[in-house]
Amino acid sequence: MAALRTLLCERLGCDAPVIQTAMGWVATPPLVVASSEAGAFGFLAAAVMKPDEVRSSIAAVRAGTTRPFGVNFHMFQPGAAEIVEIILANRDQVRAVSFGRGPDAKMVGRFRDAGILCIPTVGAVKHAKKMIELGVDMVTVQGGEGGGHTGSVPTTILLPQVLDAVTVPVVAAGGFADGRGLAAALAFGAVGIAMGTRFLMTKESPVPPATKARYLAAGTDDIEVTDKVDGLPQRMIVNAMLRRIEMSGGVAQWLRAARAGLVMKKQTGASFGDLLRMARGMTSHGGLTLAQAMSAAAVPALIQRAVVDGKPDEGLMATGLVAGRLAELPSCAELVRSIVADAEARLASLAPLARPEAA
Ligand SMILES: Cc1cc2nc3c(=O)[nH]c(=O)nc-3n(C[C@H](O)[C@H](O)[C@H](O)COP(=O)(O)O)c2cc1C
Repeated sequence: MAALRTLLCERLGCDAPVIQTAMGWVATPPLVVASSEAGAFGFLAAAVMKPDEVRSSIAAVRAGTTRPFGVNFHMFQPGAAEIVEIILANRDQVRAVSFGRGPDAKMVGRFRDAGILCIPTVGAVKHAKKMIELGVDMVTVQGGEGGGHTGSVPTTILLPQVLDAVTVPVVAAGGFADGRGLAAALAFGAVGIAMGTRFLMTKESPVPPATKARYLAAGTDDIEVTDKVDGLPQRMIVNAMLRRIEMSGGVAQWLRAARAGLVMKKQTGASFGDLLRMARGMTSHGGLTLAQAMSAAAVPALIQRAVVDGKPDEGLMATGLVAGRLAELPSCAELVRSIVADAEARLASLAPLARPEAA
């Protein structure tokens, strides 16, 4: 893998310039251990965890690998201040944090002083610039192809825009799955790629077989962006639940929000105030109605129904568009090995074009 070592590998201490991104209830310790052991850099999805779970999950990752890894969190989640302290207490192995919005310059400074890199995910140039002002070390740029909440500007447009606008290293995300993508991202000027959906669709991903089968079966036409779930665009596999939500009116939206709010309250110990704050924070763009904000709080329970309980039709399946062209479940080791080998082959085949005299 030596040929493909980039600044990302140096800074994060991984072998391949590949990040396994945080995915709620999916990027749990088994996946983080497997991706990190495979030579990628794994992020633990702590934004959906209570402080105690964060503590035990970090311990579980540490028990499974001695490699450095990252933690994803949000300042608006219940117990965020405690979670920050837990992360800082693990600074010897937690090399990076990722987040959407949340930390202020002071918090970024605390992580920097602890030797922990701040690598937020951004979906717009202005967001990238704002993060740079806060003093972050790198940014991950997620184009509209990506999973979860997503923008409308594709990676091929957004990535060069952000590369032109910032001076920190940039990681490319949204639609990546193989060595061709890594070679292309490096050619754009990124220091590596970050992938969510591709790692969700691996052997070690904890998603139950019935739900993984739905991700495997989905074609690009079975995946759409909808703002009907919580008022903000997010990419999902089309299923019975999504169609029901899209067709339901305001009353059904409120019922769903209330029901899921109760489940969340029980699971996380959050108060209704916490839920509302979390909902507003999750949506992060503001300007939502109360029903939309509460619906945002309902989404986690519906996602868990699919990716934790293995009931794909009763829940929601967040995904990147790239799931539409993936038809196998490699192990993380097979995946990282093939990405590196294919990227090297692509770059080698391009070298004579770049230097005709060497052909
Ligand atoms: C099922 C799923 C859950 C996700 N959960 C989170 C999350 O908890 N926090 C976060 O910052 N991003 C989350 N994301 C976004 C991913 O971290 C990542 O940015 C995105 O998947 C990249 O695009 P790709 O799927 O095309 O690789 C999620 C994405 C998916 C598909």
